[in-house]
Amino acid sequence: MEISRVGVIGAGQMGNGIAHVMALAGYDVIMSDISQEALDRAMATIRRNMERQVSRGKITQDQMNAALSRIQTTLNLPDIGAADLVIEAATERESVKQAIFEDLQPHLQPHTILTSNTSSISITRLASRTDRPERFMGFHFMNPVPVMQLVELIRGIATDEETYRTCLGVVERLGKTAASAEDFPGFIVNRILMPMINEAVYTLYEGVGNVRSIDQSMRLGANHPMGPLELADFIGLDTCLAIMNVLHDGLADTKYRPCPLLTKYVEAGWLGRKTKRGFYDYR
Ligand code: CAA
Repeated sequence: MEISRVGVIGAGQMGNGIAHVMALAGYDVIMSDISQEALDRAMATIRRNMERQVSRGKITQDQMNAALSRIQTTLNLPDIGAADLVIEAATERESVKQAIFEDLQPHLQPHTILTSNTSSISITRLASRTDRPERFMGFHFMNPVPVMQLVELIRGIATDEETYRTCLGVVERLGKTAASAEDFPGFIVNRILMPMINEAVYTLYEGVGNVRSIDQSMRLGANHPMGPLELADFIGLDTCLAIMNVLHDGLADTKYRPCPLLTKYVEAGWLGRKTKRGFYDYR
């Protein structure tokens, strides 16, 4: 199936990154959000990140201008119905995602493929609430989207082969690499990454190391580009906690229990870079 128009729901750090790479790959993009301020911020971020790519010689100024002209924004969710492929990148809460799909459904074209950028919520369950479980799948980008090579493609139990092939074709056109994952909690990346981050928080909680020594150990001792606590701040501590809860509930194993210190930070509103305070202070 030919995809030319991509709808992106949510203009946060994942949504604006997805709009960025889709537009650079030549797709017409329509990005929606419930707040004009979020849309304006997203467009400013896309422009800034593309300027960085121009200054490093990764793309030309003409490519940047053409890509920016391919991105439209809207506050009206039904406008997304014109897309051939929809990527939902709203808040990582199942009730929010379900409400979005429900509101969007009457406006979709029959052939439209629906996907979610969820990092851990069941694709099969999200799909089952729509009118097209066979044309629904997980399309999971990594942050920062313009830089990270991987996209996880997750088939729900009912996803058909054509949907999978079409999404795979889109990933290839983006110049990225797809990893195919089965629909189990956390898929592949977060099943492995989040317990590591959670363990780093336990290491802090139990006083084995301080923030800097833990991060330095993993950066210099395991060659990770960022330490686990710095990475948690980058991803968002609320997202990390939500994913740990999905692993804990879905796999029913105490080895996935979220560290109480992670919960406490989230309760304090210390969510990492986006609130200027997490394991590090960004104020
Ligand atoms: N847009 C475009 N380009 C960007 C960018 C962005 N948002 N952020 C960074 N870049 C580019 C820079 O321009 C630079 O380009 P060159 O190589 O051409 O110079 C390159 O990326 C590296 O950036 P920096 O030099 O600024 O910084 P760095 O070397 O410290 O790298 C990083 C930054 C790429 C974020 C690196 O620290 C890294 O890979 N960190 C780990 C990220 C990670 O693990 N992400 C996955 C999180 S898990 C996830 O997303 C899944 C989930 O569901 C939670």
